[in-house]
Amino acid sequence: MSGFSARTGFSRTWNALSQALAGRQARGLPWVDLTESNPTRVGLPALDPGLLATPGAFTYEPDPLGLRSAREAVGAHLALRGATVHAGHVLLSASTSEAYAWLFKLLCEPGDNVLVPAPSYPLFEHLARLEGVEVRPYRLPRAHGFGLDVGAVAAARDARSRAVLVVNPGNPTGHYLHEGELSALSDLCAATGLALLSDEVFSDYAWEPGPDRVPTVAGRALPMLTFSLSGLSKVAGLPGLKLGWTHVGGPAEARDEALARLEWVADTFLSVGTPVQQALPALLAHVPRFQEALRERVKENRRQLVAARPRGAPWDVVPAQGGWSAVLRIPLEPGEEATCLALLDAGVGVQPGYFYDFTGGAFLVLSLLPPPEVFAAALGPLVSVLAAQSA
Ligand SMILES: Cc1ncc(COP(=O)(O)O)c(C=O)c1O
Repeated sequence: MSGFSARTGFSRTWNALSQALAGRQARGLPWVDLTESNPTRVGLPALDPGLLATPGAFTYEPDPLGLRSAREAVGAHLALRGATVHAGHVLLSASTSEAYAWLFKLLCEPGDNVLVPAPSYPLFEHLARLEGVEVRPYRLPRAHGFGLDVGAVAAARDARSRAVLVVNPGNPTGHYLHEGELSALSDLCAATGLALLSDEVFSDYAWEPGPDRVPTVAGRALPMLTFSLSGLSKVAGLPGLKLGWTHVGGPAEARDEALARLEWVADTFLSVGTPVQQALPALLAHVPRFQEALRERVKENRRQLVAARPRGAPWDVVPAQGGWSAVLRIPLEPGEEATCLALLDAGVGVQPGYFYDFTGGAFLVLSLLPPPEVFAAALGPLVSVLAAQSA
């Protein structure tokens, strides 16, 4: 259609799954939603809304990089994760998604590309495309537990690659970046001029402690321009408050130039509201209680899932170390979509692996967020359908 940019020509056709779900809902049939990713809808500890009624809530004091008090609160939050950072190297945005858009503007000319992990959360392709930027996927090998293979990053790179994006831990694959992987990636970035975008939104959600994991790249003396992204959406389970942060690191000259340019970009939008910035220290104080409850929830649901798998079943729970999801490897036949449709018929909604660009097998993605009794109610139908599908 003429008159519109190609960048906004996204497909709006319904897939078979969304059609089947709409049909089920139209008939008033119940279902257990194992695609639920909204942390405010699953009965986790809630906050007093009065926290947002800060004395200066209606005072307008625009500061493009964010209020100093809020940036210091982010610095203190990162310090608890072992990173010594300068609050002046932190900038606020309305979300991590917005920070990506700003970073793509900062680093890429239209037609340049960024290297993104696959499988992974599908947002990056959309965000890049809206900035006129392309994505080049690098595969996370299943044989390596969906961990980073720097050889795959190098192979995906071309002359127009400007940055490599790492999701730590992967969503939905739940693999943490390890020290050895970061070191190899740093060498590649230093040799090729790639910047590193490290998405750390799930970093606090490790299920068990483990050696050599990188909780954040903030505060590390790395040879390349480095951006560590996170925000209230996942850290505090408050996506509706619209506050994300980015720590900028790397060689001093490049870092300062990046911050000066980002200040200009942020000044064009001034998108973060005042009340949430003023309330940030109090909101972050709630984080340990919320995260503890969420981790217990996710671990309990995963334990139930693993326990429900009959011995010798033709499907597996893919090993992972953290995050909010579980990945199941299922038989290639009848495959992802047919299995999702059969599960929906049995009243259980899950996502097919292709939503996340899984290849080399058939996969399902389940949210581990629902209350345990809700999650447990889905396990009987799940096990029966998977058994019937492969019979
Ligand atoms: C890996 C990852 N990064 C970023 C985001 C976006 O977070 P925000 O709400 O801060 O834009 C998500 C949301 O699910 C995500 O899974």
